[in-house]
Amino acid sequence: MSHLFTPIRLRSLELANRAWVAPMCMYSAIDGVVGDFHVAHLGSFSLGRAGLVMAEATGVVPEGRISVACPGIWNDTQLAAWKRVVDLLHAQGTPVGLQLAHAGRKGSTFSLWVGGIATEADGGWETVSASAIPFADMPTPRPLTVSEIEDLVEAWAAAAVRARTAGFDVIEVHSAHGYLLHQFLSPLSNMRTDEYGGSLENRMRFPLAVASAVRAVWPADLPVIVRISATDWMPNGFSVDEATVYVSELQKIGIDVVDVSSSGLHADQQIPRDVNYQVDIAARIKAATGMTISAVGLVTSPQQAEDIIASGKADAVRMARAFLRDPHWALRAAHELGADIDWLPQYERGLPWP
Ligand SMILES: Cc1cc2nc3c(=O)[nH]c(=O)nc-3n(C[C@H](O)[C@H](O)[C@H](O)COP(=O)(O)O)c2cc1C
Repeated sequence: MSHLFTPIRLRSLELANRAWVAPMCMYSAIDGVVGDFHVAHLGSFSLGRAGLVMAEATGVVPEGRISVACPGIWNDTQLAAWKRVVDLLHAQGTPVGLQLAHAGRKGSTFSLWVGGIATEADGGWETVSASAIPFADMPTPRPLTVSEIEDLVEAWAAAAVRARTAGFDVIEVHSAHGYLLHQFLSPLSNMRTDEYGGSLENRMRFPLAVASAVRAVWPADLPVIVRISATDWMPNGFSVDEATVYVSELQKIGIDVVDVSSSGLHADQQIPRDVNYQVDIAARIKAATGMTISAVGLVTSPQQAEDIIASGKADAVRMARAFLRDPHWALRAAHELGADIDWLPQYERGLPWP
């Protein structure tokens, strides 16, 4: 029996296995609209029978995108384009989720392979954050006013409503990797003196308001994920202890799964390079809170993923680069672990035999 290939139920959603595709920016949208590339890219994971496919960081407002080539879901054209992707995955029986994001001070870039900052003439924008503190050598952001924060909470909820109209089964709030919500959580990027800065309670206020607003509009029978960076890997930064408190609060407002990632807030971060560096943090947070947790980061082999679930360190494993290398990772993993997995009838002639 494989633990990785044991189904998991999140509210009314049945996921056939616990090998999930992590969200991955593809820098391939035009005016925030996804296209054929995204259908092929996300569709390939569906043909490969991943248990859940999460679509990439998607701006809740135009200035919430990371790059000028990142997708959005603030208008109906974007919604319709996402629906095409969702419909394709649903036709193969694969649940699909969308990660809602705001990049804050790390936004207004070109795509990763072009590099650099997009000016307004290039379609870029003035960036915002908790405080006027830049990331690395990026432009200094403008601190958000309280009414702008409140508007963004509503923008997040409106984006979730659109995502549901497009048919997504799962919605994810991105509060990790040094993007806007993480910029509020971390004492290294949040120097505010109002009710959104200072104590952990104040720094969590905006991310928790977003998570609550999204939970409130998302159907009661479908799950909400929140992604966190559990540590900044910096002295005096956001820490695992603070993250544990944050996860407990997320649990109280009905968040179903927390995905435990780390880092992305500060250019001087010191990340340990051992293979289970994030999995062990996920296990710590799971033990302390009892939350349903997905682990992520440097998971590559089927046996490694199996051991993470079997040992109770996490309830699911999300992978990014392993799925880029092999979109059919789950089919291969099931074979290697001797587990049952439903091949699509069109692909059955590719079934390996002993
Ligand atoms: C091409 C690529 C794009 C990514 N884009 C996102 C993203 O949109 N949102 C996000 O939360 N993380 C993003 N990540 C981080 C991954 O979701 C994942 O956390 C990270 O790559 C570590 O997992 P891995 O070792 O399995 O690749 C991206 C990673 C890659 C490789």
